[in-house]
Amino acid sequence: MAYSLQLLSLNLQTLTLYYRRTRMSTNTDAGITRDQAMTLLETYLQNPRLISHCVATEVIMRSLARKYAENETVWGLSGLLHDLDYQITGEDSATHGIETEKILAEKNVMPIILDVIKKHNAEGLGLERTTRFEYALTCAETITGLIVATALVYPDKKLASVKPKSITKRMKTKHFARAVSRERIMECEKMGMPLNDFVVLSLEAMQGIADELGL
Ligand SMILES: [Fe+2]
Repeated sequence: MAYSLQLLSLNLQTLTLYYRRTRMSTNTDAGITRDQAMTLLETYLQNPRLISHCVATEVIMRSLARKYAENETVWGLSGLLHDLDYQITGEDSATHGIETEKILAEKNVMPIILDVIKKHNAEGLGLERTTRFEYALTCAETITGLIVATALVYPDKKLASVKPKSITKRMKTKHFARAVSRERIMECEKMGMPLNDFVVLSLEAMQGIADELGL
């Protein structure tokens, strides 16, 4: 009897936790909806490849949020909006992220989103990444480049053809997609996830929206 009561109590705790997390994720007022964020993105970014990069980052961030029971809305929006100012700042690492902060602050977007977006360019802005959320955005946005470059090697250029092993193999090949920082991808370990698991999660997330990504 005592054992049954213990089990019942554990199940109730699990259900309560699940309910809280689900509610938090669906009812979060981040200051901007996903539709509004997408409209904003299309206003500031005319390059379809950049928009696809942001959408790919979003889907990986949402998957990571589910994995770590974090807020999927907040993590997804940070992925979607992280390069909003890219066509304004370009490669200027001293301002990338700062312009996004100005645009989103005017719209009263949640400060934690502005902060994590700046931290994905911590190197350029003289900041430091210390939280799982910050490591997540950095490794997620970076691995999208390696995954896309790997898909393009295949004759059909489809994400469906890519295996996780192909990505980890190319991760070690320095001359392949040279511009993709392996160091930034390896921040998955600081987030608490081994590289192989991160590759599988990211690839599966992107494969789930392959049509939208045109791959
Ligand atoms: Fe990016």
